[in-house]
Amino acid sequence: MGKTIRFGVSLDSDLLDKFDQLCEEQSYQTRSEAIRDLIRNHLVRREWEDTDKEIAGSLTMVYDHHQSNLSQRLTELQHEAHDIILSSLHVHLDHDNCLEVLVLKGQGDVVRMLGQKLISTKGVKHGKLCLTTTGENLV
Ligand code: NI
Repeated sequence: MGKTIRFGVSLDSDLLDKFDQLCEEQSYQTRSEAIRDLIRNHLVRREWEDTDKEIAGSLTMVYDHHQSNLSQRLTELQHEAHDIILSSLHVHLDHDNCLEVLVLKGQGDVVRMLGQKLISTKGVKHGKLCLTTTGENLV
C-alpha cells in the first residue's frame, strides 16, 4: 500500500451538490471515501473486461424445481465448471421454488460464460451475476 496523497479537484458546484447528496444517501462519512470507492469500482470493472485476469463473483438464481430436467441440467452445468465454483448454497424457498447461490473464481470470460449459461437455461426465473475482484490488485 502506498502513502496517502492529498490532491485538489475542481468541480461545478451543481455537480458537487449532487455528489454530496449521493454521499449522504449512501452513508459515506467523507467525500474521500466515496471517491476511493468510485475509483475502485472503475478499476474492478476494468478487471472484468480483461479476459486474462482472475475475477471473483457470485451468481444467484431462482427456479422451479418441478420444471422437467431443470435441476439435472443445472447440476450438469455446474459439474462441468467445478474448477471455478468454490461453493454453492441451495435453499428451498417454498413448495416450488429453489434459490441457488454460487461463489465463483476464475478467468473473467470463463466466469461470465458460466453465468450466462446458467441464467439463460430454460426455466430459470431470475438470475443475476455479481462480479467483483479477487482484491489482489486493489488497495
Ligand atoms: Ni430446492
